[in-house]
Amino acid sequence: MNILVTGANGQLGSEMRLVAALDNAAGDNYIFTDINDITPEQEAMLGKLVERELAEDGSNCDGVSGNEGKAKCSATVDVATRKLDITNLLEVKRIVAEEKIDVIVNCAAYTNVDAAESNYELAELLNAKAPENLAMAIAEVGGLLVHISTDYVFGKEPYNIPCREDQKGTPTGVYGLTKLHGEQKIMAAGCKYVILRTAWLYSEFGKNFCRTMLNLLATKTALNVVFDQAGTPTYAADLAAAIAVILKDYASETCCGSEYKKGGKSMTGNYSKSGIYNYSNEGVCSWFDFTKMIQRVSGEIAEKADNGKQRMNCKVRPCHSSEFPSPVVRPAYSVLDKTKIKETFGIGVPYWVDSLEKCLTNLLR
Ligand SMILES: NC(=O)c1ccc[n+]([C@@H]2O[C@H](COP(=O)([O-])OP(=O)(O)OC[C@H]3O[C@@H](n4cnc5c(N)ncnc54)[C@H](OP(=O)(O)O)[C@@H]3O)[C@@H](O)[C@H]2O)c1
Repeated sequence: MNILVTGANGQLGSEMRLVAALDNAAGDNYIFTDINDITPEQEAMLGKLVERELAEDGSNCDGVSGNEGKAKCSATVDVATRKLDITNLLEVKRIVAEEKIDVIVNCAAYTNVDAAESNYELAELLNAKAPENLAMAIAEVGGLLVHISTDYVFGKEPYNIPCREDQKGTPTGVYGLTKLHGEQKIMAAGCKYVILRTAWLYSEFGKNFCRTMLNLLATKTALNVVFDQAGTPTYAADLAAAIAVILKDYASETCCGSEYKKGGKSMTGNYSKSGIYNYSNEGVCSWFDFTKMIQRVSGEIAEKADNGKQRMNCKVRPCHSSEFPSPVVRPAYSVLDKTKIKETFGIGVPYWVDSLEKCLTNLLR
């Protein structure tokens, strides 16, 4: 299949590059796009993670192990980024047609939750109009749009059980509202779609809670972190792996790749699994618990490496959200029920602490 990844330089987009390098037995052709260039830091981290993965399991590369496998796979990490602004419908349609795109994986969004409160138009453009552009473009060629949404579509109601996909969206702020509009526009556009609602995303790349806390824990003597918001951290690598499972399922159901590439036929027909799905890691915690676990696990990694500099003696204290002035009210409870994605695609969901250990090992070793 020809797979267009948008927002490829963000957290999830970077993990999709690793999927393409390490988990692409079908030989899919990925085209990575973003509005800006890839940074040297991101490029270096991609190289490091691929090397590490291959050193641990050279058989990931077509069954070729050791140095041979490493050399072969290192050469396939695609760090090229084609410029694509997804707010430009004509440009989106052009690339979809020219590259005979079968699937778009949309990792681009306006993700600054606080800033969205004073930038409604831009947030709506990126989170609602741009996904509609992608949906319209992929509908024209009968392809699939995989789009990422958020737990922040919930929150106004005082939930205390995990949110299901069919629950009414009740966003508390502009970010959640515009992401909900994005979902609605995709569903109205008439394309095949998989909308994945995720939560509390973090990774080795970009700006995220895990990397911010790692830095603060190493440099501050005390930190107050809110304990009255519950959710589930999600390692972007796990979400990317779940997307890879969905792509394989789509290819096997539609058999689109080969026919489409032969140039004759565009993909038509339905995808029986089109719909909205929740995906986060397993478990529940508060931001305070998340921080304490980052501190504990990073301390253990540092101890193993006997790296005194990494030891963190910062005192982490629980506090109320009200102690942190913010332009937006965040959901108090946005735990996602993942039964549907597990039953439909057979996707296994790692426990959040296990995934955190993997990410911190990658960051600190
Ligand atoms: N982060 C979270 O905690 C979280 C939680 C739940 C759901 N999500 C959702 O998960 C998805 C991935 O999030 P993420 O954290 O990986 O996002 P991210 O790191 O902020 O990456 C988004 C990427 O989109 C790019 N972009 C911005 N405007 C664009 C445009 N007009 N055209 C093309 N690309 C554009 C950004 O480029 P620049 O950075 O150069 O602007 C960035 O590279 C998003 O849909 C987000 O809403 C995230």
